[in-house]
Amino acid sequence: MNALRLGLNVDHVATLRNARGGADPDPVVAAEIAIAAGVDGITAHLREDRRHIRDTDIARLRALPAPLNMEMAASEEMVAIACGLRPHAVCLVPERRAEVTTEGGLDAAGQAATLAPRIAALRAAGIRVSLFIDPDPVQLHAAVALAAPVVELHTGAYANGRPGELERLRAGAALGASLGLECHAGHGLTFANVGPIAAISSLRELNIGHFLIGQAILEGLPTTLRRMRALMQAPRKD
Ligand code: PXP
Repeated sequence: MNALRLGLNVDHVATLRNARGGADPDPVVAAEIAIAAGVDGITAHLREDRRHIRDTDIARLRALPAPLNMEMAASEEMVAIACGLRPHAVCLVPERRAEVTTEGGLDAAGQAATLAPRIAALRAAGIRVSLFIDPDPVQLHAAVALAAPVVELHTGAYANGRPGELERLRAGAALGASLGLECHAGHGLTFANVGPIAAISSLRELNIGHFLIGQAILEGLPTTLRRMRALMQAPRKD
């Protein structure tokens, strides 16, 4: 079977940093650690409200030695930023300010007229364009018509347990591959639900964020506590 790449989304390291307004934890340091640990790429979403990742984060992530997949709305502002930065890939996502996370896929079919020149501009800048869509044949055909080489299939409904969603994802990935699209998937994936998605042979990449960052906090606690304990004990040796 094809290799399945893992992209780590570091948005929620920035969420935690921004809760205190300082510099820690730094999403770029998290990305460096993840790259050293063998992750295939880094994903970060520069939202229009800059609620987690900031412009300076994206520029610093771009300088790291791993492919950067920049998630963004297909707005004029974001297209200009991406064309200036030239990340390896841009994943166009729908964005509503009130949402907690990206809910539902991009309506590539309904917004084709607006998307077409923006996708063309990104491609002209040498950026690999991906569309974050639901596993819907109409949207897959729209991605082909828009000349997007990659689609990321939204796994949120599957992660929420919606009946029939795994079958839709399997069919969507098969159709996408038969149309010549490189198919990725992501959203809401965890240790518990990744298996059936990873078994879909035509998928080439998964992008996972929230669960991995949360799990890293839990699994990293013993080491972190040992280090703090050592720092507390050092001045009290006598
Ligand atoms: N892929 C895309 C396009 C996303 O918007 C997100 C969430 O930012 C993810 C993957 C990662 O989702 P999660 O944080 O639930 O793993």
